[in-house]
Amino acid sequence: MYNRISLDKIDINAGPPTEEPDRQYYFIARCREWALDFERKNGRFPKSCVVNMGCQMNARDSEKLCGILQLAGFQPTESEQADFVIYNTCTVRENANNKVYGRLGALHHLKKKNPDMRIALCGCMMQEPSVVEKLKQSYRFVDLIFGTHNIYKFAELLAQALESGQRVVDVWQEGKNIVENLPTARKYPFKSGVNIMFGCNNFCSYCIVPYVRGREKSREPEDILQEVRRLADDGVVEIMLLGQNVNSYGKTLRQPLTFAGLLQKVEQTAGIQRIRFMTSHPKDLSDELIAVMAQSKKICRHLHLPLQSGSSRILSAMNRHYDKETYLNLVEKVRAAVPGIALTTDIIVGFPGETEADFEETLDVVRTVGFDSAFTFLYSKRRGTPAANMDGQVDGQTAQNRLERLLKEVQGLSAKKAQMLVGTVQEVLVEGTNGQDPSLVTGKLDNNITVHLPGTEALAGQLVSVRLEECRGFYYYGTAV
Ligand code: 5AD
Ligand code: SF4
Repeated sequence: MYNRISLDKIDINAGPPTEEPDRQYYFIARCREWALDFERKNGRFPKSCVVNMGCQMNARDSEKLCGILQLAGFQPTESEQADFVIYNTCTVRENANNKVYGRLGALHHLKKKNPDMRIALCGCMMQEPSVVEKLKQSYRFVDLIFGTHNIYKFAELLAQALESGQRVVDVWQEGKNIVENLPTARKYPFKSGVNIMFGCNNFCSYCIVPYVRGREKSREPEDILQEVRRLADDGVVEIMLLGQNVNSYGKTLRQPLTFAGLLQKVEQTAGIQRIRFMTSHPKDLSDELIAVMAQSKKICRHLHLPLQSGSSRILSAMNRHYDKETYLNLVEKVRAAVPGIALTTDIIVGFPGETEADFEETLDVVRTVGFDSAFTFLYSKRRGTPAANMDGQVDGQTAQNRLERLLKEVQGLSAKKAQMLVGTVQEVLVEGTNGQDPSLVTGKLDNNITVHLPGTEALAGQLVSVRLEECRGFYYYGTAV
């Protein structure tokens, strides 16, 4: 999208510029030279596969990797039988790490068949020194490793790896600067994530994110607004503002601005019809934000408000800075200001010291709030976090049993909630033709639930008023009115 710098004007035989993003465009041009050479030898351009393994931030980062690869002449493919494969990893739970090692084994087989294949790893898992050490020792077939803080340097590192044929490892412990205006390749033409901040300062005691993503850093509002305007010009109608804790946006800016203030500015962008954001920490959800949501015509009536636990004792051990009552009061306040708002949440079961009584408190909050949906997680011990050394680690069987009970409760409640909208007319942003039935198109309500309705691909990217006729648990059938 931001391919304003023409690669043809770049002299790749001269030295690289020192300024960003010009330096990265220079290296994209060098990668393209490599890709052209590949094409001369093989009669086709190299194929690249970007695998996104994490959250929305991770997905947005993957779009940046894709943008650079495509500008450099690589052909995108979903198949890992490609010439360049990159895993954009997540490390929030231990099993995410184990999956990566498993998949790398399979990639190694592919590389034995295609020795010119290059394999790269990036993302949160690479910010753990023990992981990089293990990869260096036991996964020598990996050609390129970098982290979250220097992802903007992808083109430079890729050029180095491609041209030298040597392994390149570059992981930084802290972010130095935010580099703007690199190319991106969006997954959807009509909706996009927009990073507003990076990192997290909260140090919830179970969470590895502050260690791998570093300290909170906000983008300048003007840079964000410019990106939103460009996206709107490019046909985007829905944006999701992304950060680990969007409610504390703006504190590190030269001229501080609240998240609510930023939302009001974003709302003024012509062409943008829907605004979402992710993720809100309950302790920072301000009255100002609730008021802005209540007045807004574009902010979706949906709030993702991670609860984590319903027990005040466990919340304190988690270092969450709110208790059960504060959370419930907050929910009441939000619902009073924005009637009908959809509430979703994240819950962890089996946190160290969690008793049956603590777990019952969680079930109690779930029933009292009646979440529209909830992501439920088994506590995963992450080395280096305070919770990893806490007494009373819950045994696997007990935690699994609680997870199943919680899931049953959550699913029952969200099915009931979804049923309540049947018969009403709601706005649906159509995403495209239904994969299973080509006479239908599929889209999303502002609470993010899927709707299928008769229609053609021409509706993709449009907001359509739809009567919801039937609810099948977690999706609806409807017709345009
Ligand atoms: N174990 C289980 N779940 C976790 N999360 C974060 N860290 C852990 C962990 N160590 C969950 C939280 C967070 C979501 C993104 O992941 O619920 O909100
Ligand atoms: Fe992790 Fe807590 Fe920061 Fe979310 S707010 S990323 S759970 S430390």
